[in-house]
Amino acid sequence: MCGIIGAVAVRDVVPILIEGLKRLEYRGYDSSGLATINGEQLERKRAVGKISKLEAKLKKKSLSSKIGIAHTRWATHGKANQANAHPHFSKDNIAVVHNGIIENHSKLRETLEKAGYEFSSDTDTEVIAHQIHYHLKQGKNLYAAFLASLAMIEGTYAIAMISPLMPDSLFAARRGSPLIVGIGVGEYFLASDAAALISVTQRVIYLEDGDIVELQRDNMTITDMAGNPVERIEHISKLQADAVERGEYRHYMQKEIFEQPQAIIDTLEGRIHNGRVLEAAFGPNAGELFSKIEAVQIIACGTSYHAGMVARYWIESLAKLPCTVEIASEFRYRKPLPNPKALVVTLSQSGETADTLAALAETKRLGFGPSLAICNVPESSLVRASDLVLMTHAGPEIGVASTKAFTTQLLSLLMLTVVLARRRGMTAETENQIVTAIQSLPRQIEKMLTLNDSIEKLAEQFADKHNALFLGRGIHYPIAMEGALKLKEISYIHAEAYPAGELKHGPLALVDDKMPVIAVAPNDDLQEKLKSNLQEVNARGGQLFVFANHSSMKQGFDYINVIETGEVDEIISPIIYTIPLQLLSYHVALIKGTDVDQPRNLAKAVTVE
Ligand code: M6R
Repeated sequence: MCGIIGAVAVRDVVPILIEGLKRLEYRGYDSSGLATINGEQLERKRAVGKISKLEAKLKKKSLSSKIGIAHTRWATHGKANQANAHPHFSKDNIAVVHNGIIENHSKLRETLEKAGYEFSSDTDTEVIAHQIHYHLKQGKNLYAAFLASLAMIEGTYAIAMISPLMPDSLFAARRGSPLIVGIGVGEYFLASDAAALISVTQRVIYLEDGDIVELQRDNMTITDMAGNPVERIEHISKLQADAVERGEYRHYMQKEIFEQPQAIIDTLEGRIHNGRVLEAAFGPNAGELFSKIEAVQIIACGTSYHAGMVARYWIESLAKLPCTVEIASEFRYRKPLPNPKALVVTLSQSGETADTLAALAETKRLGFGPSLAICNVPESSLVRASDLVLMTHAGPEIGVASTKAFTTQLLSLLMLTVVLARRRGMTAETENQIVTAIQSLPRQIEKMLTLNDSIEKLAEQFADKHNALFLGRGIHYPIAMEGALKLKEISYIHAEAYPAGELKHGPLALVDDKMPVIAVAPNDDLQEKLKSNLQEVNARGGQLFVFANHSSMKQGFDYINVIETGEVDEIISPIIYTIPLQLLSYHVALIKGTDVDQPRNLAKAVTVE
């Protein structure tokens, strides 16, 4: 998704802007650009593709300035080309960068065109620049023109603006897209993501929706849309520079897969005591809120949605609470019947997914019960909008394909299940058994990671494939879905997941000797049933790749690869079986030579609808 970085300082800000853009690369983008003020002139460089292309342009003709804004663009309105890359100018005295979507941009554009403005891009952003200029022409000062333009915009935005009319001020505004001020010594920064500021400051202010900020070298003013001053608290960002470095690993995704044992340890820290999950880990008033709930409504997108689907099996079977799981983009428009006794659980790595935020807002509007966010980014919009919070301490996840965020979400959901189940009569003995299994997770994940080399070899058999089918049953069906999502996301192989019992109702028609069928087959109550489903594949010549506890699965099959996992405790087996599927998609993508960390067309945090 788009990223913003801005700076006003006593030193040259161009290297800071470039460094910030590089740190935003993981969000996904297709072009980038920056604008600075030189004397009374705006200057700009833009390039399609990687930041290195922008750097190459800067090498040819360098820019230097004490104020500037920069942007990585992920196309929404208009193609990924240089004309559409930000910053956008109006009449060479307004430069803006923008994240979000201006819903009424066509109408605004029409009016501005009638007023004589010529557009040089297809973007919704350019209307903002011209709109500000238009208000200037009506006699307003720059701040007033900025405010008047924001008032006309329908939709979401994080906007930064500079102008030679006030060459020492950087203006910005936030509504629905994250924006952070970084505080330096005699300098200020602006970014859409704390990661972009890591090399310049840890002191940050998270702007709220409706905030307008003016940054000067030695001064910051934050107001609301009516121009009234507002106070915002300063935080110390916990992001460490080395946490977002790749180190010895070839890709962030690989690093993040191998970091999972530590991510689990960090997520467990302080949450378990004397064999019990601490209810207070969910917030000081968790006990009071949990005591009133009679149902659970989970809402999330993508991988986070798959985590929610796993949790439904745990919550219904152990906590005996009805649990519904829904994709946020569907939920928000479905007109669901409100249940004031339902705990709304939102799951999100980024905490900035627009659909999840909107769905949460919808539950509040409709009158659902209290909300709990399970999230990986502290101070994110989702965290701030929720009554209760459980942070997954996975550390920054840079690879677009979610890995450690997923397994730590699962762990968090299992801890939630235990807390809810205890209130509904789960015995201390059962809780103790689950906690023991939970505590064995880092060791068991380490063991799964030793499958890396054999999975690397296995991946060779997928290199020429165009399709793949993933099968699972019960709680492992969502794990099959997650495996399919990982494979399609980074290797571009079309992959579908089915509950294995559903094969004969249609998908079996796809199976022939060219179709790899990957099955998640742990030693549980459904293993025998799954085996019969796999026989249906075998009989049609399908190539089976089965993740199972034991190689005895092989018996009775013609073409089968069994990847032995060893015995796994049933309650944590969805978490454990995720690991080999992540490794499989990673190695297939390596062989196919795709951009593993930034797969085409995708963004890390989907901050637009
Ligand atoms: O940040 P979130 O967890 O809210 O993101 C939701 C999805 O966009 C995300 O999980 C996406 O599906 C991943 N790229 C999958 O690997």
